[in-house]
Amino acid sequence: MYPITGERHESDHRIGGCSVRELVSTYGTPLYVVDEATLRYNCQQFTTTLRDHYPNATVAYASKAGLTVGIANIIASEQLGADVVSGGELYTILQSRVDPERVYFHGNNKSGSEIDLAIRHCVTIVVDNAHELAHIQAIATDLQQPARVLFRLNPGIDVHTHRYIKTGHGDSKFGLTVDEAIPLMQRVVAGDWAVLRGIHAHIGSQIMDEAPFQMVVRWLVATAATLIQVLNHPIDAINCGGGFGISYTAGDTAPNIPRIIHQMTETLKQSCAEHAIPLPRLIVEPGRSIIGNAGVTLYTIGAVKSVPQGSQYIFVDGGMADNPRFMMYQSAYTFDVISAEPSLQTGVFKIAGKFCESGDVLADGVTLPVPQPNDIMIVYGTGAYNYSMSSNYNRYCKPAMVLVNNGTSRVLVKRETYADIVRHDMP
Ligand SMILES: Cc1ncc(COP(=O)(O)O)c(C=O)c1O
Repeated sequence: MYPITGERHESDHRIGGCSVRELVSTYGTPLYVVDEATLRYNCQQFTTTLRDHYPNATVAYASKAGLTVGIANIIASEQLGADVVSGGELYTILQSRVDPERVYFHGNNKSGSEIDLAIRHCVTIVVDNAHELAHIQAIATDLQQPARVLFRLNPGIDVHTHRYIKTGHGDSKFGLTVDEAIPLMQRVVAGDWAVLRGIHAHIGSQIMDEAPFQMVVRWLVATAATLIQVLNHPIDAINCGGGFGISYTAGDTAPNIPRIIHQMTETLKQSCAEHAIPLPRLIVEPGRSIIGNAGVTLYTIGAVKSVPQGSQYIFVDGGMADNPRFMMYQSAYTFDVISAEPSLQTGVFKIAGKFCESGDVLADGVTLPVPQPNDIMIVYGTGAYNYSMSSNYNRYCKPAMVLVNNGTSRVLVKRETYADIVRHDMP
């Protein structure tokens, strides 16, 4: 869960060669910190394995995990494409150096203007439903520019993860069954307003087992073989989604990325041989496993308060609006207190934010040295789905984000101000 450059010392920690204390005094708190070396290392875990074992592949970073123009430029320089799920993510990617031809546009309810933006920029649209396909047909016909499409299929694979982050089970809102997809694909193949490029399935997020990834490859290849026959049309690409789990605490064992990707390529080759179909382009869409452990969040500790029922609270100057994941999924993290004079005494704490909600908690039952007000709280593994899920609840100014590398730091996102908070209000 630590960044690869992380160093934990008694009264200070370092990330990317930068002192955490100095980062706090320069930029203030709450602060998101992203370690460039970890981000690049995580990209390379995928790209080098694929280069060695299956070069006909694209790694499309699932930008919902954490996206800014600066982050997109780093992933572009590592030769990754991107997966986007909204016009806002697509627009951000288009402001960066990511090649639009390596961008995949997901989502179960894309608007006309989002589809229009994707088609104009040669972004591949991952079709979720019949209504959307009708929209794509109308817009592509109007623009006289064929849309590139993949179809999102629901493989019915149920994985062991939180129910909110499962997506490939029977009752998921995402995708189509193969039977539902076939007539839609036949419409695409028969027309000249879209080009069918392949099929997609994503089974969920934070998956710690390796087996489901092999299952999804086998299922996609078997499905591609059927579709090639039924449609009499090639399936050039199979997109296996993302979902590779990461370690958030010492008790977690995350899948080993090079091993799992190598296994997926072996399964792909073997399944294609069994079904006698040509080897397709392999697309994977990792999000969390690219940025999760590259990020940490820094807070300033305020009061340490005991309540009559027995809980001991540590209050921090952020909370649910910069990290809603404990509230949403009871997600665990690794916490540390950075103190000029570390206490030898420990306590068991509930870590709460400053928002006007009893549920505004970041963790419960964490053993830490007893902190003093103004000590720093560092939370590891917050790179994914923290900034991207942040909100302005209670008219909170979202934190700044800084990139650290080789002892230097630079701002990726400026801290919001009160002026930003009222910017769109009308009197
Ligand atoms: C279609 C799709 N691809 C990729 C991902 C990325 O998942 P993760 O961040 O778990 O790798 C998601 C996450 O929800 C997704 O919905």
